[in-house]
Amino acid sequence: MRNYKKDFPIFRKKRNGKPLVYLDSAATSQKPQVVIDAVSEFYESYNSNIHRGIYAIAEKATERVEEVRKKVAQFINAKNEKEIVFTHGATEGINILASSLRKTFSKNRGVLLTEMEHHSNIIPWQHYTTQQNAPLDFLEIDRSGIVTEKVMAGRNINKSLSTNNYSVISIAHVSNVLGSINSIEKIRNKFVTKRKDTVLVIDAAQSVPHMKVDVQDSAGDFLVFSGHKMLAPTGVGVIWGRENVLNTIDPLLYGSQMIKEVTLSQSSLQNVPEKLEPGTLPLEGIIGLGAAIDYLNAIGMGTIRTHEKRLTEYLLERLCAISGVIVFGPLDLTVRSGVISFSLAGIHAHDVAQVLAESNICVRAGHHCALPLHKKLGVPASVRVSLNIYNDEEDIEAFLKGILDVKRVFSVR
Ligand SMILES: Cc1ncc(COP(=O)(O)O)c(C=O)c1O
Repeated sequence: MRNYKKDFPIFRKKRNGKPLVYLDSAATSQKPQVVIDAVSEFYESYNSNIHRGIYAIAEKATERVEEVRKKVAQFINAKNEKEIVFTHGATEGINILASSLRKTFSKNRGVLLTEMEHHSNIIPWQHYTTQQNAPLDFLEIDRSGIVTEKVMAGRNINKSLSTNNYSVISIAHVSNVLGSINSIEKIRNKFVTKRKDTVLVIDAAQSVPHMKVDVQDSAGDFLVFSGHKMLAPTGVGVIWGRENVLNTIDPLLYGSQMIKEVTLSQSSLQNVPEKLEPGTLPLEGIIGLGAAIDYLNAIGMGTIRTHEKRLTEYLLERLCAISGVIVFGPLDLTVRSGVISFSLAGIHAHDVAQVLAESNICVRAGHHCALPLHKKLGVPASVRVSLNIYNDEEDIEAFLKGILDVKRVFSVR
């Protein structure tokens, strides 16, 4: 197997003589040299603002940014680059959609989420449904930690509306806690086909970096994700939507770049993508995202998924065999990504992460921005391991040995 770690300079540096074991990629991914080089090249040789200058470096920057838009479109199999809006991250993407879609909310038309959502896919909807006095319902997940047919037929926590009365359904493609991969197609069939004006938003922050996501198959109306979780810099994200549908979305922010005409009393807006991209875009982030996509494409999303699946299988098998460990989420690898959250009986998640940190092993402890889900799981916090292409068996071994050390430190058998 190719050693992907050598492509990421951060792994060359040891801390107290110990190599970096990075198992927190669901929070943010490490960056390969090619991404760092692309960002440096931008600043060193063609730093300028786009769409404004008519001099050479501004033309080059504009060209590069628009090339990345095309690359993103191809990466998720969008019809064309007009379906790609650059944002500053998944959170901003959901906020833009929620703010605009609120005009469709009413006492009888609300929003449906699931219990497993990240706060970024709860709070914007809470804000705008409250403002519009509209219902906000949640599908209750079962022990498998996934939205199954049974879950969809089962309890809807608030149950304010009947199945086909939702204005918006917004759901994570992959849970950032449970690692569960939800079937967007099944959700769409259940909730959307009956009423054509229901909008399906897919939070793909944890899927696009790790598996082939094809927007033609995913059958959602909008898909959002962040660059920094897919080897690119922070500060850049994407909204995908069909051009005519995207054009129905109102901007969240207003300003330069998005306009056709401006007078002192009024202005007219461009069509998408410019309409939803006011102000200066995160240029270095976009350039870095292009290099990240080239890197991911060179490996192949199929290879990445296979690599992470194999490591997940190995880790799950060994972790579940340690006494006191309770793993959350599905164990079926066909519906699970490389995100593994667990609790360790008798030891708080923060203590686990703290002891691991002493061995330069980075895992996340806490609620992972999913407090309602942790309430459901009956734990205040969990430990989360999340994998990426640069992880290998040695990382898993170091982590498992670290867990045994944690038990020894706290005298737990
Ligand atoms: C499932 C999910 N949605 C949304 C987000 C928010 O992403 P960002 O902080 O990049 O906006 C995250 C981040 O962890 C996530 O895991």
